Amino acid sequence: MNTSEPGGQSASTSGAGVAVVFGAGGGIGSALLKILSESKRYEAVLGFSRATSPAIDLLDEASLAGAAQSAAAHGDLRLAIDATGFLHDANQLPEKSWRELDAAKLARAFALNAIGPALLMKHVLPLLPRYGKSAFVTLSARVGSIGDNRLGGWYAYRASKAALNQLVRTAAIELARRSPEALCIALHPGTVATPLSAPFATAGLKVQTPLDAAKHMLSVVDQLSAGSSGRFFDWRGLEIPW
Ligand SMILES: NC(=O)c1ccc[n+]([C@@H]2O[C@H](COP(=O)([O-])OP(=O)(O)OC[C@H]3O[C@@H](n4cnc5c(N)ncnc54)[C@H](OP(=O)(O)O)[C@@H]3O)[C@@H](O)[C@H]2O)c1
Repeated sequence: MNTSEPGGQSASTSGAGVAVVFGAGGGIGSALLKILSESKRYEAVLGFSRATSPAIDLLDEASLAGAAQSAAAHGDLRLAIDATGFLHDANQLPEKSWRELDAAKLARAFALNAIGPALLMKHVLPLLPRYGKSAFVTLSARVGSIGDNRLGGWYAYRASKAALNQLVRTAAIELARRSPEALCIALHPGTVATPLSAPFATAGLKVQTPLDAAKHMLSVVDQLSAGSSGRFFDWRGLEIPW
């Protein structure tokens, strides 16, 4: 097995079946979609975003249910990746101090980073095959680790990703009863050059291209088996403390 190549055949989620990327218009999501599409490993590779038809919006549960059903209509859902996420926009920047805490901004981060992905799991996990390897992967962030938090700041992003991690862990336990070979994991992509990270790039920080990050994460998913479900890994396959 060539673990550095997403095209390598291993404990694969492919062979037959469907791969789907939610958030396929984002920096990392579009790279995942490109690699998966070019790999020819899946019968069908689908991407959903706010710009596709059908579109998904994390704030609209029906759109998530519709996209999940639409993907499953193409065959066995073997790989589902949630590459959505929110850190900042014109109205909201990560907090540097508790003085900046704002109820509406906290709620927005939780809606996009935790509740939306939870509803996605609600509609995707029951569609994973009962037998054979399959994977639901959500992109979390190392800063969501409580054990690893040494710098503080970024309250809403950190806390909403920590909530996401707990939702992944909880869903993985339920999923194991239904689909014992399935994986449900949180993955940290590393620091990746995308619009999400751009304002925070600092000299000396190792920044990956979206294609490299996507390639690394797909290799990690290939190498993991069901015993790793419900856990939190980085792009190198190293476990991150909750
Ligand atoms: N880049 C990094 O350094 C880094 C580090 C750690 C973790 N992550 C995580 O990796 C994931 C992907 O981040 P990225 O760097 O690729 O960021 P990005 O380029 O900003 O992509 C974010 C994605 O989230 C989608 N999204 C945001 N709000 C949405 C909504 N209401 N409904 C549906 N989709 C929505 C965006 O969709 P549209 O295309 O429709 O806008 C976009 O596809 C995120 O979970 C992020 O937290 C990234």
